[in-house]
Amino acid sequence: TTGGTDEQKRRAAETAVEAVEDGMVVGLGTGSTTAFAIRAIGDLVADGMDVRGVPTSFASRELARECGIPLADLDEIDAVDLAIDGADQVAGDALVKGGGAAHAREKVVDAFADRFLVVADPSKVADVLSHPVPVEVLPAARTTVAAAVSDLGGDPELRRAERKDGPVVTDNGNLVLDCDFGPIDDPAALAASLSALPGVVEHGIFVGLADVVYVGTEDGVDVLDC
Ligand code: A5P
Repeated sequence: TTGGTDEQKRRAAETAVEAVEDGMVVGLGTGSTTAFAIRAIGDLVADGMDVRGVPTSFASRELARECGIPLADLDEIDAVDLAIDGADQVAGDALVKGGGAAHAREKVVDAFADRFLVVADPSKVADVLSHPVPVEVLPAARTTVAAAVSDLGGDPELRRAERKDGPVVTDNGNLVLDCDFGPIDDPAALAASLSALPGVVEHGIFVGLADVVYVGTEDGVDVLDC
């Protein structure tokens, strides 16, 4: 959730949902923009379309159930036709995700999907990624990964819960370090370095995974091909 308006988010999400066809299995991303897409898919299901959703988080599962979308787990299906998901920042073919701490499951579903559509508002679009990178870590590796992130030139900060004394705990039972690297000139190289650290479950840099980014504006939708 950044500076975009609900109207911008809804436009992007509803444009992405135009790609949903009868019989599809659809990856359901997480966040306030994707929530508009999940509601729109719920409307298609209510109109009789045969769609199954693969949620990427507790939150997207909960919303999809509310919207009446039949759900499937990844191990029950052979393919995900389409994934629709938000992003915290978009630059070229690279994204930063994980503002909702859901990036580990999101990456599994989004990468597996035949097509991955990103839904965003103009506040997310940048020339160069600079958003802090969420890194999900095993609780036992919190300090070792933080030290390694510092060695890579980043500034790690443990994500804390708003209504609890203590850290955010992910849907997978892990912790999140928000790692500020400043401008990220080579997202693929940083992604590889973070993936190589013992104790890192998943980080929020997605490179070369998205097929298209729909950016909702005040009067339409910009389409960025990745
Ligand atoms: C969840 O962990 C994130 O990857 C979200 O997809 C991202 O934060 C986008 O959320 P908003 O649509 O609320 O900005």
